[in-house]
Amino acid sequence: MAEQNASDGLTRREFINWFWVGWATFGVASGAIATLFGRFLFPNVLFEAPSMFRAGKPDEYSVGVDERFKDTQKVWIVKNADNTMYVLSTVCTHLGCTPNWLSSEKKFKCPCHGSGFRPTGQNFEGPAPRPLERYAVFLDTMGMIKIDKSKTIRDPLKWNDPDYLLKV
Ligand code: FES
Repeated sequence: MAEQNASDGLTRREFINWFWVGWATFGVASGAIATLFGRFLFPNVLFEAPSMFRAGKPDEYSVGVDERFKDTQKVWIVKNADNTMYVLSTVCTHLGCTPNWLSSEKKFKCPCHGSGFRPTGQNFEGPAPRPLERYAVFLDTMGMIKIDKSKTIRDPLKWNDPDYLLKV
């Protein structure tokens, strides 16, 4: 039986082929639209570490600069002999590199352009224009050190502010 009749236009086979091509095209187009729509549902978001974190109990710290949270939280925790503690940012105030703590020289030294900072965070050499920033620190109800990196001070005149100098 002949499938094509000149007056019919398409053969049955051609019709079925075009039918599937149509569905395939529709599927691809729908997928593309769904993908684009999905980009609106899940926009680019920067996932950052929470700004507040617990840092253990004060008696877990010795006097001096503690580097246990340098890599994960980008802070140094400093304990003084008078049982006060403060938290320094590890971001150099020149152009943002990460200084190294040199315990033998009792200073932070930035490897990028040579800025030096005292254990207080005070800048004293190199191009850094100001001290390292300090973060807010307090004890929570369980006696754990809690650091709030959303609150910072730059002004050394505020270093004794109780929000930034923890008495333990
Ligand atoms: Fe630290 Fe330049 S970034 S001295």
